[in-house]
Amino acid sequence: MSRTVVRYNYVPQFGRIDELMSDLRHMLLEGRYVLSCEVSNFESAFASYCGCRYASGVNTGTDALVIALRALGIGAGDRVITQANTFHATVAAIELAGARPVLIDVDERTFLMDPDALSSQLTKRVCAVIPVHLFGKPSPMPAIMNLCGAKHVSVVEDAAQAHGATIGGKRVGSFGVMGCFSFHPSKNLAAAGDGGAIVTDDEVLAKRIELQRSLGQRSQNEHVAVGLNSKLDAVQARILSWKLPHLDSWNEARARVAEWYRSELSSLPVTFQALDAGEVHVYHLLQIRTARRDALLAFLRAQGIDAVVRYPTPIHLQTAFQKWGWHSGEFPVAERLSRELLCLPIRPDMDEAEVGIVVEGVHAFFESAYRVGAKT
Ligand SMILES: Cc1ncc(COP(=O)(O)O)c(C=O)c1O
Repeated sequence: MSRTVVRYNYVPQFGRIDELMSDLRHMLLEGRYVLSCEVSNFESAFASYCGCRYASGVNTGTDALVIALRALGIGAGDRVITQANTFHATVAAIELAGARPVLIDVDERTFLMDPDALSSQLTKRVCAVIPVHLFGKPSPMPAIMNLCGAKHVSVVEDAAQAHGATIGGKRVGSFGVMGCFSFHPSKNLAAAGDGGAIVTDDEVLAKRIELQRSLGQRSQNEHVAVGLNSKLDAVQARILSWKLPHLDSWNEARARVAEWYRSELSSLPVTFQALDAGEVHVYHLLQIRTARRDALLAFLRAQGIDAVVRYPTPIHLQTAFQKWGWHSGEFPVAERLSRELLCLPIRPDMDEAEVGIVVEGVHAFFESAYRVGAKT
């Protein structure tokens, strides 16, 4: 039996693929490519899945964030807060919208936005806050919404990694004024290419999003704003509609796999992202934390286990953001996490035997590390 453990397996996500292929064939031959019924059908289904009135499909999760900020009228001179351990796209989107990113450190226990750190940075010049539901765990939205509500600051959720996660039964993406999603193939709800969406309950914002994603066009040849050209394409929308009804069961399967990891690795010197009462974590990534991260990564990869690091260089130390003058030591928790977190493979189709191969690898690493330690 192969001992290789991969991170992605798309085959089980398609089920009876012939039916889907026949739909795609019709779409291709009939020229239903741009903002067709496949797009609006997916948008309605995704809005209702998220518990929101409106959803707009766009090219990518990055565009979703840029368009959301532009729909709020955010631009030059405005400040937008996000967390120092996020993926590049969150901060790039703030810059692409013309605003200035303000970083805050994260909570050592949850790896997410720390409401205390947020509170101290909510100055008059801050126009929006972007909490990121990293790895599939919901950010502490009730606390964030209270703090931002008191200061009249808009909250835009970066839910690129957390489709379906909930707090008290309410989906992420529906707490802030807008929620932004990515359907990149790595995500829990994956297109066969790039894709993204913005959800909202606000009709005025929904109209501005529509303009922003289609070159500011209100009707043929009538452009009332300068916008992007960023529309979810019809083929991706059809594929996403095909997969959406299965998302909850896939997320539950991911949670089962995470539970196996948590229990089978509990005797080792590793820690996990904290779980909090009343919330559902959808495990886009399963992170373990260890001071021996780099050695463990090399050990597992040598055995064919597709472990990976997300993200080895925190935002404030990335070359792309040098202009903001951030320095090493400024966000110590984010820096520690960037050195100590390791993602183990997690997929909805993994069974206990396959998880067992990874678990065995992690145990073998620590046993050999103890043996070497005992000799020295
Ligand atoms: C937290 C986060 N935000 C935004 C994005 C951007 O999404 P996309 O790759 O679809 O542009 C990603 C994608 O990986 C992400 O992980």
